Amino acid sequence: MKTIVTGIKPTGRVHLGNYIGAIKPALDQAKNKELEAVYFVADYHGLTKVRDQKEMQELSYGIAATWLALGLDPDHSIFYRQSDVPEIFELSWILACFSPKGLMNRAHAYKAIVEKNRMENREEDEGVNMGLFTYPILMASDILLFQSNYVPVGKDQIQHVEIARDLASAFNHQFGRTFTLPEHIVDENTPILPGLDGRKMSKSYHNTIPLFEEPDKLKKLINRITTDSSGPKEAKDPNHSTVFAFYKAFASEEQTIEMRRKFQEGIGWGDAKEELFHVMNDFFAEPRETFHYYLSHTEELDRILEAGAKKARAKAIPLLKEVKRKLGILVHP
Ligand code: TRP
Repeated sequence: MKTIVTGIKPTGRVHLGNYIGAIKPALDQAKNKELEAVYFVADYHGLTKVRDQKEMQELSYGIAATWLALGLDPDHSIFYRQSDVPEIFELSWILACFSPKGLMNRAHAYKAIVEKNRMENREEDEGVNMGLFTYPILMASDILLFQSNYVPVGKDQIQHVEIARDLASAFNHQFGRTFTLPEHIVDENTPILPGLDGRKMSKSYHNTIPLFEEPDKLKKLINRITTDSSGPKEAKDPNHSTVFAFYKAFASEEQTIEMRRKFQEGIGWGDAKEELFHVMNDFFAEPRETFHYYLSHTEELDRILEAGAKKARAKAIPLLKEVKRKLGILVHP
């Protein structure tokens, strides 16, 4: 059976752009019976940014509750918290010893920070901790320890999967076939959801709609979506409308066809937004309830995550042993 691995780091509230762009495609894959899904909360990746006990706890539980609320089945997948699987960090050190420093220097995320620091006349590495610098190595460990064939990611993470692949082949080259070479999967059909202002939805643009927002807040956010100035009765172009892009992401195919027709017939923006609200509110009604249920029953989340970590470790331990043996690191039987 082929394995598919992906994680979400707890560094902020998950928004609709994350859902449509990354989480939904990953959950669709998890339903594929031919694949074993290994999905996790990447809390130690979050530690490169989050330094507050309460925030770390809340965000980590939030990611776990999000996966479950959106339909990840922990009985038919391996679902865990990264920090519960110590073998990941052991392998991470081993991989670090095989990673040329230059490879990390070339990682886009790090380069972007250096670039920004330079532009703003700061020390190149200001604000860069070693966790952030070696982030791709920990991610490679997440991927390689589970012999992943596929890694569903957003476009910004492709390079990280390539780094994992490079490290795997370097190791295999010297020590014989050990790690599966992972491939990233980025579904070209996945739409990029615009934000409230029409630019790509992103936390840094402050134009997001958080997942599982309460109905009154959701309504307010939808009312903030920018539209053109066409009045009611004027035909509207669905292909250049954020309202329509959202509608399409959450409505059925029939509803979408119908809405396209209404746009051409000149539905008023207020009415279009009202319909959008109903479609989104219905879509999230049940997941929202499940999400809140788990957040108020974190002991249940702990139980699910611990059971998942057990399954994860059962896979990780033998491979790590093999790696250590090859390296001449003593392994007790
Ligand atoms: N770096 C990923 C992100 O920011 C999260 C992540 C951590 C991940 N480890 C992973 C994704 C392993 C895929 C596989 O989105």
